[in-house]
Amino acid sequence: MCGIVGYIGQQEASPIIIDGLRRLEYRGYDSAGICTLEKGETQIRRAEGKLLNLEKLLHERPAEGTRGIGHTRWATHGRPSEINAHPHKAGAIVVVHNGIIENYLKLKARLAAAGHNFKSETDTEIIAHLVEDHYRRIGNFEAAVRAALGEAEGAYAVAILCQDEPDKLIAAKQGAPLVIGQGIGEFFVASDIPAMLSHTREMIFLEDGEIAVFTPEQMKITDLAGQPLVKQSRTITWSPLMAEKGGYRHFMLKEIHEQPRALADTIAGRLQGDEGDVYLEDLGLDDQQLAGLDKVFIIACGTSWHAGLVGKFYIEKLARVPVEIDIASEFRYRDPIVGKDSLTLLISQSGETADTLAGLREAKGKGGRAVCICNVVDSSIARESDGVIYTHAGPEIGVASTKAFTTQLIALYLFALKLGRARGVLSADDCRAQVQELLALPRKLEEALELDAEIEQIAKEFMHARDFLYLGRGNQYPIALEGALKLKEISYIHAEGYPAGEMKHGPIALIDENLPVVVLAPRNATYDKVVSNMEEVCARGGKVIAVASGPDAGLEEKVAALIQVPETSDDLLPILTSVPMQLLAYHIAVLKGTDVDQPRNLAKSVTVE
Ligand code: G6P
Repeated sequence: MCGIVGYIGQQEASPIIIDGLRRLEYRGYDSAGICTLEKGETQIRRAEGKLLNLEKLLHERPAEGTRGIGHTRWATHGRPSEINAHPHKAGAIVVVHNGIIENYLKLKARLAAAGHNFKSETDTEIIAHLVEDHYRRIGNFEAAVRAALGEAEGAYAVAILCQDEPDKLIAAKQGAPLVIGQGIGEFFVASDIPAMLSHTREMIFLEDGEIAVFTPEQMKITDLAGQPLVKQSRTITWSPLMAEKGGYRHFMLKEIHEQPRALADTIAGRLQGDEGDVYLEDLGLDDQQLAGLDKVFIIACGTSWHAGLVGKFYIEKLARVPVEIDIASEFRYRDPIVGKDSLTLLISQSGETADTLAGLREAKGKGGRAVCICNVVDSSIARESDGVIYTHAGPEIGVASTKAFTTQLIALYLFALKLGRARGVLSADDCRAQVQELLALPRKLEEALELDAEIEQIAKEFMHARDFLYLGRGNQYPIALEGALKLKEISYIHAEGYPAGEMKHGPIALIDENLPVVVLAPRNATYDKVVSNMEEVCARGGKVIAVASGPDAGLEEKVAALIQVPETSDDLLPILTSVPMQLLAYHIAVLKGTDVDQPRNLAKSVTVE
């Protein structure tokens, strides 16, 4: 995890790096630091806590220079503190690092025996000393970095400066993301695209085992052995404004309200109404290959896993292919039986989640094909998959996922329609009818967003509860899980999602007048059953917050609060019922005064196992 930024050019590095780090804070925010290089002198500033603390420090003690590196941290080795904050320096060498060096203890022992003194508890400091150790002997910065990285095991993205060779910045990647931004007479490196978007849209994605050496005028990319590589740049279409708050109080709220646009973008160009089919441009599988599939594995983490749970309903219903769904960190250690006619579907907003990436490699290693549903273009998972369905949600900055989730549901739905058509399970007419419903969805989402003020009132009423229970059945059960996760993530209230029919086997014992129970009860096939479960809650004094589709007078009298989303097909209802889940968690968190966009202990992109 963590975010890194590097700059070399003609401008002052410090403001560019701070701006980049601000856009990477979603990757970690327990400490931050910067090093600039001016006339062969390094200027290092580090501060515990949010980036704001580093900015205050820089205000008092500016760091000057036109080369620099910066870091925002999510602690793995060593608690959050100034001493453990990056950059780490050893002699002339200064390093920022994202990842984990697995053999750091062995390296540390060797370096300590050779007289190196360590100040921090981090694995990163070992890299600085290792490069410095080689540098002292070889006398060449680039050669020293190559030699050091040749010895490092594990995952890293690094940016390194050397005060004796001030016209160079070196960056390298192995198992953690690193993107290069190309300007005129300047270069940028960062863990993710938004960190550089306000400066350039020309980007190059480094691959594992590659090193980039920059001067202000030139860039050289090689493999670890020094063999030159030719890399193509890509023009990124995301606009810098997409990564701004745009007048909203929080990124999360902005992203919730962006959903109608994000959904429309994810659908755009993919519906073939006339033929009653769906077009997925980079799927990497033709209709014949789709027709030959005998199983689909879905692998994901967190919110993306919840999307996968809904996807299972879609694929089994519309394409009649059995689906197995796993949490990525479980999949890779259970020796799954992946046949050559199976397809593994990875779902990941960031495309960098370590467990999901490992699951992809596991599935491919067993001979299966893999397609991912991903939001970040050219991310590691997108590049290693055989095909990709991009969600066009735009950058998601809030740590709690919202628009990425609903666009994942759309992508899964499109995939299920495509698969159903290719297998002849779904007729062109049926597909056309679904497409009509899909086209109406962005407008219905806008209507659902008008519930905002009403949900804020409900939040006021229930914000002091210690626990929440969320219930749903069928494809609404994953939405119950997602609602509970959102609340936990940003308001720190304990919440559990449960299949409504399972409540009587345990959670019913918890119900009393102090436990709000959010019941997802839209008009679908299991409506009557869910209403019975709701009655069971009411009979025990539980306070029900019901989510219905359309006006539902029957429910109104029974519940403490009723939220009504617009009506749509059973399949698409999870997208609409997600909105009140997001808004309820958001407003409770705001009322409680927690840090909505950067909740404690979390990070948006989890690149450690
Ligand atoms: C972290 C984030 C979640 C996200 C999960 C999976 O836990 O905080 O919001 O759902 O990672 O991330 P991915 O990028 O693979 O979807």
